[in-house]
Amino acid sequence: MVQNIRPATLADVDALVQLENKCFLTDHLGRRSFRRLINSPSALVLGLFQEHQLQAYILILTRNNSAWWRVYSVAVDPSCRGQGLSRILMEHIIERALLSGAAGVRLEVSVTNQVAYQLYLRLGFEVVDLLPAYYADGQDGYRMQFSFATR
Ligand SMILES: CC(C)(COP(=O)(O)OP(=O)(O)OC[C@H]1O[C@@H](n2cnc3c(N)ncnc32)[C@H](O)[C@@H]1OP(=O)(O)O)[C@@H](O)C(=O)NCCC(=O)NCCS
Repeated sequence: MVQNIRPATLADVDALVQLENKCFLTDHLGRRSFRRLINSPSALVLGLFQEHQLQAYILILTRNNSAWWRVYSVAVDPSCRGQGLSRILMEHIIERALLSGAAGVRLEVSVTNQVAYQLYLRLGFEVVDLLPAYYADGQDGYRMQFSFATR
């Protein structure tokens, strides 16, 4: 079936919040945050839709003073997992970052999130830092990056 990736709009905020609550137990983004991010010039919120149903989203932060794009969040509806949707979104972002002239893509992931960690490794990300007690629940994180310079 055809999946459609497009920037989220304010009309998608309810669906984004629902998806976020299904995917993250702590630290989830609320309505106000999604509204602010959708309107922000330094954020990119992309949704992956099938027949107008939101199945996954990715949130990128780009800052004027940083050459790196940062994946702040990627999440797939539990009923749509294991189909490679996160890979589609991540590859889409890597391509866009490359075309925009970025140095590469960076992200942080909890050392306990093996599904996401393995996905990033398969995509070609490498660990560049260990971040002790990085998360609100005290878990350590990995900083990972996909550098265009080393390709
Ligand atoms: C991490 C996440 C984005 C991966 O999304 P995805 O599109 O399901 O990824 P994939 O299709 O590549 O599957 C990844 C792995 O999930 C597992 N998986 C397979 N089917 C699954 C299913 N029905 N349900 C759950 N997990 C499944 C498999 O181990 C698979 O690995 P494999 O490719 O070696 O078989 C998704 O699990 C998610 O939204 N998790 C909660 C939010 C999160 O942790 N985000 C990342 C940190 S910001």
